[in-house]
Amino acid sequence: MNILLTGGTGYIGSHTAVVLANAGHSVVLLDNFCNSNQSVSARINQITNQTLVCIEGDVRDTDLLINTLKKFKTEAVVHFAGLKAVGESAQEPLSYFDNNVAGSISLLEAMKKTNVRTIVFSSSATVYGKPQYLPYDEVHPLNPINPYGRTKLQVEEILQDVAKSDYSWRIALLRYFNPVGAHVSGMIGEDPRGTPNNLMPYIMRVAAGALPHLNIFGDDYDTRDGTGERDYIHVMDLAEGHLAALNYLTQHSGCEIFNLGTGIPVSVLELIHEFEVASQGTIPTEVVARRAGDLPIYFASANKAKSLMDWSAKRDLTDICKSSWNWQKFRGSLDD
Ligand code: NAD
Ligand code: UFG
Repeated sequence: MNILLTGGTGYIGSHTAVVLANAGHSVVLLDNFCNSNQSVSARINQITNQTLVCIEGDVRDTDLLINTLKKFKTEAVVHFAGLKAVGESAQEPLSYFDNNVAGSISLLEAMKKTNVRTIVFSSSATVYGKPQYLPYDEVHPLNPINPYGRTKLQVEEILQDVAKSDYSWRIALLRYFNPVGAHVSGMIGEDPRGTPNNLMPYIMRVAAGALPHLNIFGDDYDTRDGTGERDYIHVMDLAEGHLAALNYLTQHSGCEIFNLGTGIPVSVLELIHEFEVASQGTIPTEVVARRAGDLPIYFASANKAKSLMDWSAKRDLTDICKSSWNWQKFRGSLDD
């Protein structure tokens, strides 16, 4: 299949590009590089031993999208492009609604005009908000508590309405839990600009000596060891979830929602411990106050993805930490 990946040089997009290209699909990447590096596409090419087309452009440029969809005879789109920092979304809400919501509308307009009717959308577990029960399943009530989460929910709603308006659409909404880890080559991985907000990239910087210690945001939660628990999913498992979704959509029209998680909650202390084992080092930590807006614990029910798409996460915490550490070492050797 000819597949366009918006945000294709980002963290999840780059790993998905590898999985789709290795599965025999023809993959085109489109990115405005606002949160990624141009050199990523060359590294994807090295890993896959293929030459993927990589276009610099913005999803809000509808004409560029129309031309791109036509030129590469696109049959499906995986839509990763967007902004994702929760804190920044509260400071810059307009930019988030413009990139994430207006960007998605622009893409859908272009797809409609070019008769491309298959799309996989990157949504987030953040759409659920405070758990009314756990694990979250796909019918759990939705109540995002920050602008970023609201952009994801709005795009989900738009896509559901689009699917109802025309039965030829084939849409998968993938709600990711906490993506971590890197490709086994260590050549691509998460590469946040500035000081990381999320746990794993922060641990990696501390392990590399670039930051002095990790702040643990609270150890007095009602959880197994008092620290927050999350459903960390290896990015390669997540990438394979996109392949499974695209396969599913070849057989099904309409709009379907899938959680992509492991179903296993892991605490901050457990992740630190696994990383110390993988990196054979020590992560200095300091317990500080809870971070505003953090939930104590949440994790996925991944049953629906298993039963409808025959997809489940295969990699464990050891794979996650080893691959993250490999990537951190490789990243340190790059000069961009
Ligand atoms: P990322 O920032 O690494 O990748 C996003 C890519 O999109 C970047 O390469 C960026 O340059 C590009 N981009 C942003 N705005 C664009 C625009 N207007 N036009 C073209 N390109 C644009 O993030 P990621 O972690 O790979 O996330 C991919 C998607 O998954 C995002 O939509 C994100 O909201 C969603 N998601 C991520 C997580 C996570 O924790 N990483 C969790 C849930 C959902
Ligand atoms: N944490 C620390 N110290 C840090 C960073 C995080 O103790 O320096 C803790 C948090 O308190 C939380 C856990 O580590 O208990 C995970 O925090 P992250 O920031 O890594 O991830 P979140 O679950 O808060 O949120 C992330 C993304 C959201 C996304 C969500 C689900 O930031 O955008 O995962 O996909 F919606």
